[in-house]
Amino acid sequence: MLAIEILGLEKTYKVGFWRKRPKPALRPLHLQVEEGEIFGFLGPNGAGKTTTLKLLMGLVFPSAGSARFLGKAWTDPTVKAQTGFLPEQPYFYDYLTAHELLEYYGQLSGVPAKQRKQRIEQILQQVGLHDVQGVQLRKFSKGMLQRVGIGQAILHDPKLVFFDEPMSGLDPIGRREVRDLMDQLKQEGKTVFFSTHILSDAEALCDRVAIIHKGELRGLGAIEDLTSTVRGKVEVIWQGTQMPPSIKALGAECHVAADTVRVIIDENQQDAVIDALRRERLRLISLTPVRTSLETYFVEKLRHAETTAATTV
Ligand SMILES: Nc1ncnc2c1ncn2[C@@H]1O[C@H](COP(=O)(O)OP(=O)(O)OP(=O)(O)O)[C@@H](O)[C@H]1O
Ligand SMILES: [Mg+2]
Repeated sequence: MLAIEILGLEKTYKVGFWRKRPKPALRPLHLQVEEGEIFGFLGPNGAGKTTTLKLLMGLVFPSAGSARFLGKAWTDPTVKAQTGFLPEQPYFYDYLTAHELLEYYGQLSGVPAKQRKQRIEQILQQVGLHDVQGVQLRKFSKGMLQRVGIGQAILHDPKLVFFDEPMSGLDPIGRREVRDLMDQLKQEGKTVFFSTHILSDAEALCDRVAIIHKGELRGLGAIEDLTSTVRGKVEVIWQGTQMPPSIKALGAECHVAADTVRVIIDENQQDAVIDALRRERLRLISLTPVRTSLETYFVEKLRHAETTAATTV
């Protein structure tokens, strides 16, 4: 079953004080997300990510279009009970403790009183805040606050979770923790839809991603497909600091790090390189087809979008 179906969702804001003028933030968007996927919604600042998430959560009215969650209308209360949301830069009352905040959200989201205590304990463990559950949120770091935010989003055990920039402002350890949490949600069979502009996180986590720019969908697909192999190129890494002359003669692109050498060669030179390494008794570490990174794909898509926009003006 499809977890999320976005059916031509569109938003135009009215801006200006005296003379209101329309400002399109999201052009008609059509998108489908399968159940159990981790789906990354990528785009630069101002692309329309938060607008899309707010529309999906019913926090702003669409100019047109609709959506379906888990096969039902997005406005269906039973479906709303199955969704969790972490807003961008969430604000929580400073003087509540993590436990009090979750208790409050548990009541709001209708977790039955009998199960609430146990569920809160479980969530505090899951988001790694069990030991600090009695500390007021004003003493929490950004990473801890983000984990409280994730805790409130998943407290009522929703099937669908929406996170707006869950890793922004976090250090690498904090990002890793959030990534692990999201992975865990996937293992539990949940569908995760999150926005980000941290491409390495998307690359590490997502089954599929969509790229939006200026409110328009610019790319969509599985990470493996978007970061497709660069035809006919392979990367060879070996231990050592030497570059055998026969490899040098191939004119390969070469990078020497502390104790490894990395070259990028044409596929048809691969046997010659391996023979040379064997002759020189150098230890081969890896031989892999070269892939474009998600970052390269992203930048190229946006650059293309800019040039087509410029030529159509
Ligand atoms: N309430 C609003 N009124 C008018 N314009 C708005 C409003 N909210 C957003 N916008 C505009 O809509 C566009 C999309 O904004 P949005 O916040 O959805 O982008 P975003 O992709 O989430 O960006 P960021 O990465 O900076 O969070 C921007 O040009 C923004 O200025
Ligand atoms: Mg945003």
